[in-house]
Amino acid sequence: METERLNTASAIMKGFTVLPTVPAAAAKAIKLLNEDDVDMGAVADVMLADQVLAARVIRIVNSPLYKAMGQIHSVRQALMYLGPQKVFEIILTSCFLEVTDSSSTSPLRIQDCWKHAFGVGLVARRLAESINHAQPEKAYVAGILHDVGEVILSQHRRQEYMRALVLARAEGIDLYDAELRVFSTSHAEVGRLLGEQWNFPTEFIEVIFQHHSHHLKSVAPLALLVALADRFCIGVGLSSMGEQNPNKILGCAEAVELMREHLPRIGTCNLEKFVTSLNGLTDEVAAAVQSIYA
Ligand SMILES: [Fe+2]
Ligand SMILES: [Fe+2]
Repeated sequence: METERLNTASAIMKGFTVLPTVPAAAAKAIKLLNEDDVDMGAVADVMLADQVLAARVIRIVNSPLYKAMGQIHSVRQALMYLGPQKVFEIILTSCFLEVTDSSSTSPLRIQDCWKHAFGVGLVARRLAESINHAQPEKAYVAGILHDVGEVILSQHRRQEYMRALVLARAEGIDLYDAELRVFSTSHAEVGRLLGEQWNFPTEFIEVIFQHHSHHLKSVAPLALLVALADRFCIGVGLSSMGEQNPNKILGCAEAVELMREHLPRIGTCNLEKFVTSLNGLTDEVAAAVQSIYA
């Protein structure tokens, strides 16, 4: 089943007229940041050489996501403040924005996709922090990237994707399940193949591929954090299909139940306190998206 779906995804991607690429500068910077002895000067040079990337990084850094830092006006200054891990996080975020930016052809509202991505990123990071996961930043990046396949698939196979959307809305099913019915594969497979082509680190590819797994008991910790954050965001109306959920309280409760069931495998936290801490989430996400894309 898994191989079949991957083969189908691969065949679909072969039919794309233009294969989406990560900006060359971002790819180079990711490579440099993955080296053992990171040379931040070289990373800065690579990023400054691409004005679009540099400008986007500054916008992300100045957004409410990093509000504690004060105003940053140059990539070099930002690099000094942030260090390799955060810069890596920001570059991957900018990659996601880059590949989704030209998506006027997608039947999904791109603002909804961004809100969903930022929402899942923020919730996954906070969930990671609350269970003292070693690298909450990774949970954030993985959250941002997890649905990259959805955006790409919807852009390149617009007509069929509209059918999947109609099906999901009419039958009240997940967009993922509707994709499986229309395409015999899904954004999880497409996203995994894209991640491999873009040389994303393996742990992010794993999240992209596994976040809809029906076997949450066996997925990697990072994939579990993102899968739970994904269900939570959809539950409270931060969905890439726009506000779908008529009952946010019920949606939230279902997501919390899922957390109660699966979280103990990777850590413990006070779930009530955690959920209360997410009270302003929708506004926070809207502000972040607004400040980056206004
Ligand atoms: Fe997804
Ligand atoms: Fe998602």
